[in-house]
Amino acid sequence: MKRCISKLTYSQIDTPLFTGLLNHAKKNPIQFHIPGHKKGAGIDPVFREFIGDNALSIDLINIGPLDDLHQPKGMIKDAQDLAAKAFGADHTFFSVQGTSGAIMTMVMAVCGPGEKIIVPRNVHKSVMSAIVFSGAVPIFIHPEVDKELGISHGITTESVEKALTQHPDAKGVLVINPTYFGISADLSQIVEIAHSFNVPVLVDEAHGVHIHFHEELPLSAMQAGADMAATSVHKLGGSMTQSSILNVREGLVNVNRIQGILSMLTTTSTSYLLLASLDVARKRLATEGHMLIEKTIQLANKTRNAINEIDHLQCIGPEILGRKATFDYDPTKLIISVKSLNLTGYDVEKWLRQKYNIEVELSDLYNILCIITPGDSEMETGTLVEALKELSEEFKHQAGDSEKEVKVLLPDIPVLAIAPRDAFYSETEVVPFEESAGRIIAEFIMVYPPGIPIFTPGEIITEDNLSYITKTLEVGLPVQGPEDYELKSLRVIKEHKAIQ
Ligand SMILES: Cc1ncc(COP(=O)(O)O)c(C=O)c1O
Repeated sequence: MKRCISKLTYSQIDTPLFTGLLNHAKKNPIQFHIPGHKKGAGIDPVFREFIGDNALSIDLINIGPLDDLHQPKGMIKDAQDLAAKAFGADHTFFSVQGTSGAIMTMVMAVCGPGEKIIVPRNVHKSVMSAIVFSGAVPIFIHPEVDKELGISHGITTESVEKALTQHPDAKGVLVINPTYFGISADLSQIVEIAHSFNVPVLVDEAHGVHIHFHEELPLSAMQAGADMAATSVHKLGGSMTQSSILNVREGLVNVNRIQGILSMLTTTSTSYLLLASLDVARKRLATEGHMLIEKTIQLANKTRNAINEIDHLQCIGPEILGRKATFDYDPTKLIISVKSLNLTGYDVEKWLRQKYNIEVELSDLYNILCIITPGDSEMETGTLVEALKELSEEFKHQAGDSEKEVKVLLPDIPVLAIAPRDAFYSETEVVPFEESAGRIIAEFIMVYPPGIPIFTPGEIITEDNLSYITKTLEVGLPVQGPEDYELKSLRVIKEHKAIQ
């Protein structure tokens, strides 16, 4: 598939999809097609009043003049081509199934049943879903764990090299870059290593849509030469929730197959509101992104410095760099360590909600994470700093000696007895937790932080891993994933005993 901008006259200030929709809506056609609310006339009046007629007038469907995401030839193709240019990709595909849909497409585009894919152990659940769908076999790499912060970073270049040397037949290497916390690996080098084995690099770029547009931020997947990147425009790029893109570089991957798989995983009733929001977000990033991100970095750095002035709090900055998996970082992410106050991140999240009506992006045992975007101003960051000052004042009496010492341990990676897909489709049964050693698990169990699965379906349960779970629960770390939240039982593959 050759890249071509169908209307050569388009530039990054144009929004062919959004403008095309507006022009269509202006004609005010009589609609005998879905959606049945017909420009809002048939929708609940309270909702209509709230959402507004403008939004409802472009809540349309893939009728002839409006192109079709499944086989784009018109305004959607033009918008995707402009996005490809903006992101330095050979092709960009819009996703209305979030980055999860784009990630599943990446994995399924390179892996078939029984084929290997190298993935970090702390992957997003969409990667494991795709591994189940495709029947691929995961080769796990342990991410680097930051014992100070109690979070996991990315994977190291050394570990990728080792994994590829042991498994040169792998069909892909998947990298999370940057991580949720904004830390990135040396992606260019990882790409170089993988390409020397002729293996494509798939990047989970859910938290990095903006990094392409400012030189002070880590290299984007396309800048680093990766083959595919699933990128959440909705998270940090200004489009509506659920809208993402899949960027593709030609060479090691089959572009037609990628488009086909994305289509297989996508609703036929694609939301034009979401698609149009991708078109306008691309325009803003391409034309004003640098300036907006510049201001955002400055605001974030000012906030970071102010937080670092507060006793017993630490907002992580460039000092985190220079370790094996911390090659670069995104300063717009404020990782605020609260452990010196002898509070957990969860405690602080609740305190901020109740006292200041502040909602954080996430919290864990040691930290809260706040993201700063072009949508923020000194008003919001000022309130955050004020709130944190009060927090420090209120809890300073418990800071110091009494700090909880929670060690973030790494569980051993169990042996994968059968592919996750086979485990998923096997007959299963529930057994008591303490009697499960030796059995093959059929569910995911992970501890957060650091967000690493202890078990994925198909692995053999060991006494060591069970005692790791018990210890983890004892120190108060949340264990996620199992059907039985209390972990009194585990779901395992049913054993068939001989009939007597
Ligand atoms: C690391 C990572 N990858 C992928 C995703 C999935 O993105 P989306 O919610 O757009 O499907 C997320 C979502 O939070 C994520 O944190």
